[in-house]
Amino acid sequence: MAQEYKVYDPKNMLFRRLGPSGLRVPVFSLGGWLTLGGTVLGDPVKEIIKVAFENGINMFDTAEGYAAGKSEEEMGRVIKELGLRRTDLIISTKLFWGGDGPNDTGLSRKHIIEGTKLSLKRLGLDYVDVIFAHRPDPTVPMEEVVRAFNHVINQGWSFYWGTSEWSAQQLEEAHHVAHVYGLIAPIAEQCQHHMLHRERAEQEYDPIYRNYGMGTTVFSALAGGLLTGKYNKGIPDDSRLAKHADLPFLKQLIDSFGEEEGRKKLKIVQDLNNLAQNELGCSVAHLALAWVAKNPNTSTVILGASKPEQVLDNLKAIEVIPKLTPAVLEKIENILGNKPDPVPTFGRPALDKFGRL
Ligand SMILES: NC(=O)c1ccc[n+]([C@@H]2O[C@H](COP(=O)([O-])OP(=O)(O)OC[C@H]3O[C@@H](n4cnc5c(N)ncnc54)[C@H](OP(=O)(O)O)[C@@H]3O)[C@@H](O)[C@H]2O)c1
Repeated sequence: MAQEYKVYDPKNMLFRRLGPSGLRVPVFSLGGWLTLGGTVLGDPVKEIIKVAFENGINMFDTAEGYAAGKSEEEMGRVIKELGLRRTDLIISTKLFWGGDGPNDTGLSRKHIIEGTKLSLKRLGLDYVDVIFAHRPDPTVPMEEVVRAFNHVINQGWSFYWGTSEWSAQQLEEAHHVAHVYGLIAPIAEQCQHHMLHRERAEQEYDPIYRNYGMGTTVFSALAGGLLTGKYNKGIPDDSRLAKHADLPFLKQLIDSFGEEEGRKKLKIVQDLNNLAQNELGCSVAHLALAWVAKNPNTSTVILGASKPEQVLDNLKAIEVIPKLTPAVLEKIENILGNKPDPVPTFGRPALDKFGRL
């Protein structure tokens, strides 16, 4: 019997190009780190992906390293079981942490090629749309990395490639290698960007956006849930910080709540919450997501969700994006007090608004 497909309805989703490419990505996508295949298994994974897809999310992000491959397996299973049409979907995965052997991690040509094949097998797909280098690998020559991702694209296993948490210098080198050898360069950086973490996405990458038009697939836009305000009155039992308290950087965050730095963050979240509720009629989570989406270099904000209701709630941020006027953005800056300095021009007068480099 012919497969009956569930056809995609974008609803009120907004689309952007992924960096300089022709690929259109939804401004909000969904990822599987810690959740899908991790703390969420079986039917609940299906519920989350179903709600996302039925409400306009057609891009899903995973990685070979998420739950040791289980995230890819669960995502692939659900795509099949829900009868989603492959052409409607944008699937991204990431390579770096593939296992314990000496060549199961990193970005050698061997691991990029073997890792891609294994990811596709777990996903049950012939190709992904974008494949990311989950981290830089300074132990592998950049030419080897760029050539290996080009091989993956040339085999039809992925249409595009990107990077995650690379420095601007490493991105510069990748683009240089691609240019010199006539190879395909990365189109997007998957970087952490949220109201409490801004330097790299807003300052360091500035020349990368200008010179190469790279886009970003932003992660942790809610700072792992901190920017929902859910931690302002302690740590709820069913929350990420309770479930993953042993992860070193989450432990660091938990410990910081008893110190000046953490208390300062919680106060910022409270002040943002007051602004969101009193002036915009939304929650602090909606405000935080809309704020990242408003950034012109953001291609897609990858949502994380442990429950379908969180996906639905977070999608309300779409309606908040147009409410972020210059006056509102200035109020946000005053609360945050962490705007990265612009690139110095050493006293040269400002250019007019069309005077881009
Ligand atoms: N490339 C990388 O290195 C990298 C790193 C991290 C993430 N990522 C990608 O980005 C995706 C998103 O990252 P993230 O999970 O850190 O994003 P996030 O949006 O900062 O955090 C998501 C978590 O916040 C909580 N949450 C979300 N919406 C909520 C709501 N409306 N109300 C209350 N709590 C809510 C949920 O946690 P609980 O319900 O469990 O508390 C959820 O799992 C990942 O799935 C992954 O695909 C990539």
